[in-house]
Amino acid sequence: MKSRQYHHYRCVTLAFESKRWGMRRVLVTGGASGIGAAVAAALDQGGHEVVRADLRGSDDVQQLDVGDPVQWASVLAANERFDGLVNCAGIRIRTALVDIDVDEWDSVLRVNLTGTFLGVQALARSWIASSSPGSVVNIGSTTSFSAVPGQPHYCASKAAVAMLTKAAALELAGHNIRVNAVAPGPIVTPMLQTRLDEPGQEDWLKAQVPLGRLGHTSDVAAAIVFLLSDEASFITGVTLPVDGGWLTR
Ligand SMILES: NC(=O)c1ccc[n+]([C@@H]2O[C@H](COP(=O)([O-])OP(=O)(O)OC[C@H]3O[C@@H](n4cnc5c(N)ncnc54)[C@H](O)[C@@H]3O)[C@@H](O)[C@H]2O)c1
Repeated sequence: MKSRQYHHYRCVTLAFESKRWGMRRVLVTGGASGIGAAVAAALDQGGHEVVRADLRGSDDVQQLDVGDPVQWASVLAANERFDGLVNCAGIRIRTALVDIDVDEWDSVLRVNLTGTFLGVQALARSWIASSSPGSVVNIGSTTSFSAVPGQPHYCASKAAVAMLTKAAALELAGHNIRVNAVAPGPIVTPMLQTRLDEPGQEDWLKAQVPLGRLGHTSDVAAAIVFLLSDEASFITGVTLPVDGGWLTR
């Protein structure tokens, strides 16, 4: 009950915060689930127009495979101009390094890294062509900076997202386009649930977090809303940990 009241409070606060800035239309990839669905809801409650896109399309989620440049072009052609992009689509596969075949390696890099690159590139091109800037938030991970065993392709992809964020921020700053990222710790979503179902994993994960709990999707949504907003107008190229202190060690 306490947790439900807390979430209600966080949603109201997020809605209030996101009303204070001028962004109007935001594209959220991976918007059908987890962190993407939470940030889409927070932006929607804040009065913004949100287009959710996902591999799993539905009546209110546009179909998009982020690894396919042709599908990015179709989504941009089918919509009015976007002011912001949240690159939330991602996959994680847990396999030991010695057991990963090249197809599995490529599939993780294709979604997490190439998909993020294609999104930044597509939106940056449209903003430069229309001489009107926008703001991007990518999704890294604590594994952008600190490895964990059993998912080297995921770790490599997320480290690359942090550097892509810096490189894009540097190159696009002259157009007043900001590119930032968040680095979530363990956040309770369908992606993490598969790991929580493994014996001992929940206790292990909590033990890595100095604040002693797993994260909520609203924790990450709050940071994304801030980085997208004009409140963060002098911030670009950062990857902000939202990790309960995981990366302090
Ligand atoms: N949950 C965590 O603990 C955690 C921690 C750090 C980083 N992240 C990152 O946060 C992001 C969101 O993850 P989540 O936990 O909400 O997971 P999730 O599985 O709930 O959501 C991921 C979404 O991405 C979509 N997706 C997968 N492949 C796609 C593709 N090719 N094109 C378009 N959409 C695709 C899925 O359909 C799904 O809706 C991911 O980038 C993930 O790596 C999550």
